[in-house]
Amino acid sequence: MFKINDNYLKLPGSYLFSTIGKKVAAYTAANPDKEVIKLGIGDVTLPLAPAVIKRLHSAVDEMAVKETFKGYAPDLGYEFLRTTIVENDYKARGCDIAADEIFVSDGAKSDSGNIGDIFAVDNKIAVCDPVYPVYVDTNAMAGRTGVYNPETEKWSDVIYMPCTKENNFVPELPKEEPDIIYLCFPNNPTGTTLDHEEMHQLIQICKKHDLYVLVDEIYRGLYQEESISDLYEKGISTSGLSKVLSTPGLRIGWIKTKDKELIRLINERRDYSIISSGPINDYLGALTLKYSKEILKRNREILEENKCYLKEWLKAHPHLSCVIPKYGTVCFLKYDYKIDSNTFCEKLQEETGVFFVPGCCFDVENHLRFGLANDSQIVKEGLEVFSNWLKKLDTSR
Ligand SMILES: Cc1ncc(COP(=O)(O)O)c(C=O)c1O
Repeated sequence: MFKINDNYLKLPGSYLFSTIGKKVAAYTAANPDKEVIKLGIGDVTLPLAPAVIKRLHSAVDEMAVKETFKGYAPDLGYEFLRTTIVENDYKARGCDIAADEIFVSDGAKSDSGNIGDIFAVDNKIAVCDPVYPVYVDTNAMAGRTGVYNPETEKWSDVIYMPCTKENNFVPELPKEEPDIIYLCFPNNPTGTTLDHEEMHQLIQICKKHDLYVLVDEIYRGLYQEESISDLYEKGISTSGLSKVLSTPGLRIGWIKTKDKELIRLINERRDYSIISSGPINDYLGALTLKYSKEILKRNREILEENKCYLKEWLKAHPHLSCVIPKYGTVCFLKYDYKIDSNTFCEKLQEETGVFFVPGCCFDVENHLRFGLANDSQIVKEGLEVFSNWLKKLDTSR
């Protein structure tokens, strides 16, 4: 008889992000005349950078000619894309790496999940907390996480490494020894990251215990920060074009590690799923990387403006606080109203059209994830509307 994977069924409820997406869509359908101001977004808000648009047409022209037409990509992904990643994302920061340390995929999210297929089921995982849910959820599907406790919202066989304001968002290293550590830097949802010294301390401990460290670095690169895979033989970084280079729709990501055997295995796994990324996307991805300086400059300017605005805004809102990240593009607003984050966000959205991602999506209450990489006008308008709404909340606390 047909049966569903038990481990899949253990996942707590439907995927919260898609539930939220559905709520926003329902609100838009029910209120066609009202504007939705998305301040929690994970998507981009501005079109492709002009430098890329100008050259995009040449990708189509290449596909029209027999000599340059491309089909499935070879092993690891097209050489032209891997070389461009190496030149623009790594060598530009002084890291001398080879193109065969890169495996091209269809996004950091797929990589974060798919790589688990080549790890043994009895590996013990540790994960920073709070964090983007995909690492724990995909390990749950694989049967590596034990039993879920809906009260604590934790799994019995996962080691959680708290990142709090008190420990400066540096994950507390576990007393119990894991086999693989999953991190996300700059972190989603806090936006915080490790400095050089903190990263080195972490690597020393990992070396001592011979641990693999998988770091989701999809938010890295705006300010040329270090990558774990530059520094540690067993460091695996997942990255891509979706965040700091503003092109999530291309679905291009990559894994970088000095561990050649791991690259071989993950490449072999690709043959059972996506086969390869698409050549037009790869071409556009290479262009995006080639003109990354212009794109990053634009994005840094937007981000800095929004961070300054938020800093000032917070001064007038004593019930909200936030560690504004130096590098990350999201941040985690803490509030001290006695209302759970899901209700808070629902009420705010229903009454004003302003939308944040509730902290409960990351198993943290009394927080809202705020996307800083948004059109500055939208950020200002949204925070003003939010401000007026909070006045009502202040008096009814
Ligand atoms: C931490 C993190 N990793 C990965 C992703 C998705 O990356 P990609 O578009 O490359 O799959 C997201 C998207 O929100 C994210 O927040």
